[in-house]
Amino acid sequence: MSAVVKMPEPHASPANVLVEVRDLEKSFVMERRVIPVLRGIDLDIGARDLLSITGASGAGKSTFLHVVGTLEGATRGKLTFDGVVLSKMNEAALARFRNENIGFVFQFHHLLTEFTALENVMMPAFINRLPEPEARARAEELLVALGLGERLRHRPAELSGGEQQRVAIARALVMKPRLLLADEPTGNLDAGTAAAIHDLLVESNERFGTAIVVVTHNEELARRMPRRLRMKDGRLQQVDGR
Ligand SMILES: Nc1ncnc2c1ncn2[C@@H]1O[C@H](COP(=O)(O)OP(=O)(O)OP(=O)(O)O)[C@@H](O)[C@H]1O
Ligand SMILES: [Mg+2]
Repeated sequence: MSAVVKMPEPHASPANVLVEVRDLEKSFVMERRVIPVLRGIDLDIGARDLLSITGASGAGKSTFLHVVGTLEGATRGKLTFDGVVLSKMNEAALARFRNENIGFVFQFHHLLTEFTALENVMMPAFINRLPEPEARARAEELLVALGLGERLRHRPAELSGGEQQRVAIARALVMKPRLLLADEPTGNLDAGTAAAIHDLLVESNERFGTAIVVVTHNEELARRMPRRLRMKDGRLQQVDGR
């Protein structure tokens, strides 16, 4: 019998935790009724985690990503990024922090309609004052990797839905963020393109050390992530049996 080599757990250990979510709650108020969506979430996201979150429509997956990404405030709870307590930071400081550290792929991609694919991807780099040649080189490399080398000068209206989504993914990666939050990144894509997106996510995780959280209804994509969670009744559960 050959010796069994025990691989390190992909789960976060205290030494390399990037994001700490503690007792997080988020409710919305509509017509004076309180709608509880996140009901007490505890999660550590490791600095090199690749994790997926699945769950029924309306379960609160997008809401969770928005709160972790500091786009929306929590109703209650604590959010820490690399030891810094974000739940106490003011809006201006948060905006700066987001630009430098977090990449977003939104469920509905929000590209800038007046700008080309290349310019959309370069935008976060401009905001962070990266020199133009460097911004352009990074943006082109990502777009080529996503099969859009022939579409650099197309505006969003001149791209298919799946192509727009790929531009949004490239835009989220251009700053080599420490954390990438991706909401349905393969929603409008055929199986082959979805596999290419998956490969790019894994590669970004390995090359830039980007921690990645993917929300998806795509079971196959979810299953390929080393760590899997499910959102149910406003809480996150671990998915076993992968
Ligand atoms: N701004 C808001 N005001 C009031 N209710 C909201 C708001 N945003 C979301 N909700 C409610 O919160 C719940 C969770 O929404 P969320 O978008 O997080 O779901 P989801 O899990 O991402 O669903 P899907 O898989 O359909 O994208 C829904 O019932 C939704 O109606
Ligand atoms: Mg959603």
